[in-house]
Amino acid sequence: MSEPLRYEPSEVVVPAEAIAARMPVLAQEIVEAYGHGAEGIVIVPVMTGAFVFAADLVRRMPNRLRVDVATVRSYGGGTTSQGPRIEGVMPSVQGKHVLLIDDILDSGKTLTFLRKDMADRGAASVRASVLLRKKLPAALATPCEFVGFDIPDLFVAGYGLDCDGWFRNLPDVVSLRRIGEVAPVVR
Ligand code: IMP
Ligand code: MG
Repeated sequence: MSEPLRYEPSEVVVPAEAIAARMPVLAQEIVEAYGHGAEGIVIVPVMTGAFVFAADLVRRMPNRLRVDVATVRSYGGGTTSQGPRIEGVMPSVQGKHVLLIDDILDSGKTLTFLRKDMADRGAASVRASVLLRKKLPAALATPCEFVGFDIPDLFVAGYGLDCDGWFRNLPDVVSLRRIGEVAPVVR
């Protein structure tokens, strides 16, 4: 967060309009998959990147549910993942059906780690939804029941996703380029 701004938006990868159109369809897919089991599920948004996606998604879900965030950090700063680490208090999920909500599936380390963590905490079931999944072998091989969009393997920001804490407020998902350069950042 203390890093100076080194990047700027390059191309729009997923426009806000496409996200808005996908949201009710994705929420319906989730509600139908759970059936009656959707009553009383615990939605666990992974902070901070999932906050915009989760806010949009839960308001499309008519069921009685709880929202309890998990804070997991994998980037110390910059665009290279260093592996997931829990920060702060984790949700109580003993005997509960958990739906993890994350912004993006990249290496799959975060979701794989959290699925095991939720199961270890006694969750009755664990499923996951991500807004974005990169077209990478590791991401495609990671179990994730509900995917918003498959995108190219680019470093993206906006709609909750950040780069060094910046750009979470952008309504579109965009690729980034180093200030002064033309080519987008891959990772
Ligand atoms: P994974 O553990 O490598 O699958 O990465 C998942 C986490 O890394 C996500 O929760 C994001 O916070 C972050 N992340 C991965 N790729 C990107 C990206 O392109 N832009 C912003 N954050 C990303
Ligand atoms: Mg992030």
